[in-house]
Amino acid sequence: MVTNRTFTILKPDSVEKGYIGAILEKISVSGFRIVAMKLTQMTKADAETFYAIHNERPFFKDLVEYMTRGPIVAAVLEKENAVEDFRTLIGATNPADATEGTIRKLYATSISENAVHGSDSDENAAIESAFHFSGREIF
Ligand code: PPS
Repeated sequence: MVTNRTFTILKPDSVEKGYIGAILEKISVSGFRIVAMKLTQMTKADAETFYAIHNERPFFKDLVEYMTRGPIVAAVLEKENAVEDFRTLIGATNPADATEGTIRKLYATSISENAVHGSDSDENAAIESAFHFSGREIF
């Protein structure tokens, strides 16, 4: 069911620092099943589209540069209450405000390099998954 899925990105800083394995382990032991996953790199146009809702925000240009500077891991995750539970697992946008044990507390360095993305609604989870994966890449 779409309502039991969320979309995530392990951002370029996570890949650069070699955290892919540790973050996927944390996701897995937290009860999420990976139903799609790929190592990929967004173009500037991709990132501008993906983050279009934020294009008026002061950090937009920096966000696009950061998200395109290297490979990312994109994945679709399945679990009951996936969107909300994954947002809890990753922690606050700013790692300084994140709860102990969350992915951002463990692996992020700043609000502008915060290790992971998690969809904020079921609707956006479906849109973001379709942005990165074709139907036959989601299992
Ligand atoms: S959220 O998670 O969407 O509610 O957070 P929000 O504060 O609205 O941020 C939207 C995305 O922008 C990123 N962000 C920033 N990037 C660079 N600099 C600053 N100051 C900054 N503040 C927020 C934030 O990580 C969100 O990206 P995603 O990929 O959704 O996590």
